[in-house]
Parts: sequence; structure tokens; C-alpha cells
Amino acid sequence: MLKSLSLLVACFLMGCVSSSDAFQQQASLGRGINLGNSLEAPVEGAWGPKITDEDLVRLKKAGFNSVRIPTRWSAHALKVAPYTIDPAFMARVDHVVQVALAQGLVVVLNAHHYQEIDEAPAEHRERLAMMWHQIATHFADFPESLQFEIYNEPNTQHTAEAWNLTLAAALQEIRKTNPTRAVHIGGVEWNKIGTLKDLKLPPEDRHIIAQIHYYAPFHFTHQNASWVKGSTAWNGTKWDGTEADKEAVRRDFKAAADWSQKEQRPVFMGEFGTSAGVADMDAGLLNPWTAFIASEAPRYHLTWAYWEYQANFGIWDPKAQQWREPLKATLLGDN
Ligand code: GLC
Repeated sequence: MLKSLSLLVACFLMGCVSSSDAFQQQASLGRGINLGNSLEAPVEGAWGPKITDEDLVRLKKAGFNSVRIPTRWSAHALKVAPYTIDPAFMARVDHVVQVALAQGLVVVLNAHHYQEIDEAPAEHRERLAMMWHQIATHFADFPESLQFEIYNEPNTQHTAEAWNLTLAAALQEIRKTNPTRAVHIGGVEWNKIGTLKDLKLPPEDRHIIAQIHYYAPFHFTHQNASWVKGSTAWNGTKWDGTEADKEAVRRDFKAAADWSQKEQRPVFMGEFGTSAGVADMDAGLLNPWTAFIASEAPRYHLTWAYWEYQANFGIWDPKAQQWREPLKATLLGDN
């Protein structure tokens, strides 16, 4: 009795009683949206409109539970130690996070498009970890509805071996100030489901959410995407949702669910979506791929965030200042 009481006191002092477990933290993300092409552009505004407070009000009102905020910290920090983050940029991100949280949105704040680290992980690993040291310190007192994500889509030279070193270094810095905050970590090759198995995560850390991104079949979802070389050749590719098409998706989601079950860690689908090149979206028809992915994922205990809000894949048309209604209905139903 005494032993369990002292354990409870120790646990309380360490904060482990008050925090939700990773499965609750993952579930709280529900249906989310990426604020893409904003804070992860070289400078906010370079790739489209800046994020406004009204955007966050609008997203909450529409029925989204969470927002993922892609953020290019690497363009706003010193290149040499101590890698100080520009205070104006920190204040800007802080503002967007605060407004989102005030709306009752759960927030996933990441590091995005640090392309140099994918080319030369060993040279940039310490810089990413020390940027996380600063970000984690800054947001340490924020509620647990703020979640962190170490790095979007490690790829190229960021092999599984290199990425495991990178994530360990960053996680160590984060845990110094944020012992129970949910931290998202995806596998290499652009957060592919098949690379979850290569992740080396500290077994004792139970506040990790694994993250996957889903754009298969890529020639369908990325047709006519200006940033993907050769993608105009895929124009007109259809996804008809045949039984075979659906089975392929189910096989992928099952692989994620099996990994989750085996490792006892929740999985979040942090990105999925189709480019504006998918004609059905413009024609105002329901996009059957998006509808299927959004409705099928929860059957595999995946919560999700659509890519993205108001750029190429966007659910909101910033010029017309209106929702792309069919897409919104596809994602949120009658909300
Ligand atoms: C990844 C990239 C982002 C791109 C999206 C869809 O998140 O980082 O820039 O727009 O995938 O291709």
C-alpha cells in the first residue's frame, strides 16, 4: 500500500498522472488539416497566402479537430552553433500555435523542408537537435494539445540508419523539457508505411506517435504537380475504386495497423490528398480516392490530416474566398 502510494506521489511529481497516453493523444487528432505551403515556404507568403487568425476560426468551425503546421525552422536559424532561431520567427509560429489552441484545435508542430539534412544528415544532425532544444524549451509550458513532430519525410541520404541517429538526438533534447508531450516520428522514404519497421524508438518512451503519409497510387495523386518532374505525363490517370484498388489500400493500412499492434504505438496519417491536377476535384465531383482514404483509415485506427488547406491540393479557395464544397463534404461529411 505504502509502496504504491509513494509510486503514485513520485508519478504525480513527474507529471505522469496528468498526461494522456499516446493512444489518447493520437485519437484527439481526429480529422485534421495541414496548413501547407505557408510556414514551410522559404518565407511565409512566398508560396501562397499567409496564415490568418480567421483561417483557424474557419477550420474549427468547419469541423476539423486538428491542424498540422509544416514549419521550415532551418531557414530561420543561425547556420553555426548555437543555431539561434530568429526570435521574430519564433514569435510568429507561437502566435499561430496559440490561435489554433485557443480555437480548441489540437496542433502538430513539425520541422519541414530542411532539405540540407536529407542530403547530409551527419553534418546537420546537431543543428536540428539544437533547434528542437530551443523549440521545446519555448513551448514547454503549453498544454498537451500541442504535439511535436521531429521531421517531415526523411529521404535520400537520410537512410534508416542515419534517421535513427537523427531522431534519437532530437528526441533527447525534446525530452529534457517535455517529458510526456506527444512526439510524432515517421519512417524514411517520405514517411512510407513500409519503413515503420526500420524505426528504432526508445522502448521506455511511451509518448511517441508514429506518422505515415499516403499518396498511393502516386501517378494518380500527383498528376500535373508542378514540383514533381514528369508528372504531366500522368494527366488523366483515374482511380475508379475497383475492388482491386480498394484492396491495395487496405493492404497498406493493415501493414500500418499490424505494426501498431506489435509495437503498441499509435499511428497518425499526417498527409494524404490529391493534386489539383486530378480533374474530378475541379469538376466539382466527389473525389472517390479521397473519400475512400478518409473513411477507411479510421477502420485501421488511423486518425488523419488532409494535405492541405489552401494551396494546390486545397480544400479552401483563397481567391474566391470559399470552400471547395465537394472536397469539404468528402472529408467532413455534413459538419
Ligand atoms: C510533402 C512535401 C510537400 C508536398 C506534399 C505533397 O509533404 O513536403 O511539399 O507538397 O508532400 O506532394
